[in-house]
Amino acid sequence: MPRASVITGSASGIGKATKELLEQRGERVIGVDLHDAEVVADLSTAEGRTGVVDAVRKVSGGRIDAIYANAGLALPDPATVAVNFFGTVATLEGLRPLLQGSEAPRAVLVSSMAALMASDDELVALLAPGDEQPALARAGVLAKEPATTGRLIYASTKLALSRWVRRQAATAEWAGAGIPLNAVSPGVIATPMTADLIATEEERESLLKVVPMPLNGIAEPIVVARLLAWLNSVENTHLCGQIVYVDGGSDAVLRGDSVW
Ligand SMILES: NC(=O)c1ccc[n+]([C@@H]2O[C@H](COP(=O)([O-])OP(=O)(O)OC[C@H]3O[C@@H](n4cnc5c(N)ncnc54)[C@H](O)[C@@H]3O)[C@@H](O)[C@H]2O)c1
Repeated sequence: MPRASVITGSASGIGKATKELLEQRGERVIGVDLHDAEVVADLSTAEGRTGVVDAVRKVSGGRIDAIYANAGLALPDPATVAVNFFGTVATLEGLRPLLQGSEAPRAVLVSSMAALMASDDELVALLAPGDEQPALARAGVLAKEPATTGRLIYASTKLALSRWVRRQAATAEWAGAGIPLNAVSPGVIATPMTADLIATEEERESLLKVVPMPLNGIAEPIVVARLLAWLNSVENTHLCGQIVYVDGGSDAVLRGDSVW
């Protein structure tokens, strides 16, 4: 039987490239997105998240092999908190029981190198215990702050997601159940999310000053897709709680030795 995977955000960018890659390899993919997907659902709402779990259970027959929690927004708006953090965690926790019947269960989420950028301590702290209403309220305040106009929201959600992976991966629910749980942190990838930021040579150059990518510059989504596919493959038996930067070197440039 071919492996069956669920990919959120499958209609565009990195999710679409991953879906196409897995399908070319003969795997079965259940895409989840706001449109153009096997499961059409809105991960920004509690109802939408429950609906995803119910629909995937139905479509898959109750057994899946891998979860790719990829859907995300980069708007300076509370919706980014709802989708990026709460939608991602609900996807992974809600679908985890469906991995139980798999011989090689796997899970991965898409964080970002933006987790290394300025973030809001208060919002990150609210995201740790998964307290949605106060977190949305804090994001609403940040969105209106004249100095940063919501720019801290995206980085805060990605930092919280990376920490969530570190805290969850080694627990009984994940590692203890034989499920490698990891994250990828892309640098700048050419998708609709970044199209307006990299439309001109000048814009590309100024973005690369903030996100240095000395190895081959801005990447196509297939670059991230290949890494995601390996992390969720049968071959990956021992990576646990890793945040893998696929970023042309921005993490190495910005963090240097501090990782130790
Ligand atoms: N493009 C980059 O440079 C970059 C860098 C680092 C991380 N990322 C992350 O990669 C992931 C994919 O981004 P992308 O660049 O492919 O963007 P994209 O905009 O091309 O695709 C995102 C997909 O998520 C879906 N989505 C958004 N809100 C949703 C919701 N409420 N419910 C269901 N689906 C929803 C969208 O419809 C879209 O199809 C995101 O988590 C993003 O934060 C992207």
